[in-house]
Amino acid sequence: MTAPKDFNDRMLSLGLARVSEAAAHASARLIGRGDEKAADQAAVNAMRDQLNMLDIKGVVVIGEGERDEAPMLFIGEEVGTGDGPAVDIALDPLEGTTLTAKDMPNALTVIAMAPRGTLLHAPDVYMDKLAVGPGYPVDVVSLDMPPAERVRALAAARGCEASDITVCILERPRHEEMIAEVRQTGAAIRLITDGDVAGVIHCAEAELTGIDMYMGSGGAPEGVLAAAALKCMGGQMWGRLLFRNDDEKGRARKAGITDLDRIYARDDLVTDDVIFAATGVTDGSIVAGVKREPGYLTTETILMRSKTGSVRRMIYRNPVK
Ligand code: FBP
Repeated sequence: MTAPKDFNDRMLSLGLARVSEAAAHASARLIGRGDEKAADQAAVNAMRDQLNMLDIKGVVVIGEGERDEAPMLFIGEEVGTGDGPAVDIALDPLEGTTLTAKDMPNALTVIAMAPRGTLLHAPDVYMDKLAVGPGYPVDVVSLDMPPAERVRALAAARGCEASDITVCILERPRHEEMIAEVRQTGAAIRLITDGDVAGVIHCAEAELTGIDMYMGSGGAPEGVLAAAALKCMGGQMWGRLLFRNDDEKGRARKAGITDLDRIYARDDLVTDDVIFAATGVTDGSIVAGVKREPGYLTTETILMRSKTGSVRRMIYRNPVK
């Protein structure tokens, strides 16, 4: 009997970067063209083709949707050559389809890989999210605190005023009260129109991005991807699934979730070593977007491993056929 193949995160990580680069390349010609679907489809096709070249026995646990809704990269799809370690894959071929279609900042292609059974199979529902960067005491803030208390607790831990804190929040009508409460503390708010994976990642590099905390609801699948990134970069994150109806609760149960009110900490969302890659599609504060010059495309990818906490930024220049 042959021994089970290891999750060799060091070797697999470069392959993962290629997957996210390919998706960014493919969506590049659709930046600013007003066609969200076409941009997403181009990224999906390219990501899937590259993923299937990797020597892994992969299963998509966070993907484009349920099998009957998404023809490619659906939840449960087997990917890779089948010759390699058994892994879970979480992906969002284009995180920020609207950002891409409108050529607005921070659209990314995103993928994470971890040993089989270690990424939460988050259903396609909303998640209440809260994240801070590294260097704070454990549980410095919590989802049970009202928004203003979170700001005050973070400021106390940092030894600064609430007015020195910047919080990132998705601009949505459902967040109006939260925004008003945070503003009352004197804190600044960076409102984003889309892309909360990037929103959360910003907290891990507060000195570069100026963002100390992320809060608000967004997609649960994006929550798992963001947790994977923070596990590599350092930082804390919490998420609680939000259900609008019985159908959404059914989706969670189908994914094996029994405690619907559970608060997941970062390491409950991603329970083992993980590798994470994201490539810029449009310019952003984490990585630059795709650059086009005659005959070439250039991308920037952030590639990270939780085992070592290594964060690599890679520039890739490739001739366009
Ligand atoms: P898409 O790239 O699929 O359009 O998602 C963008 C996004 O902004 C996510 O980053 C976020 O989690 C989610 O949509 C928020 O959902 P909603 O637009 O329904 O508030």
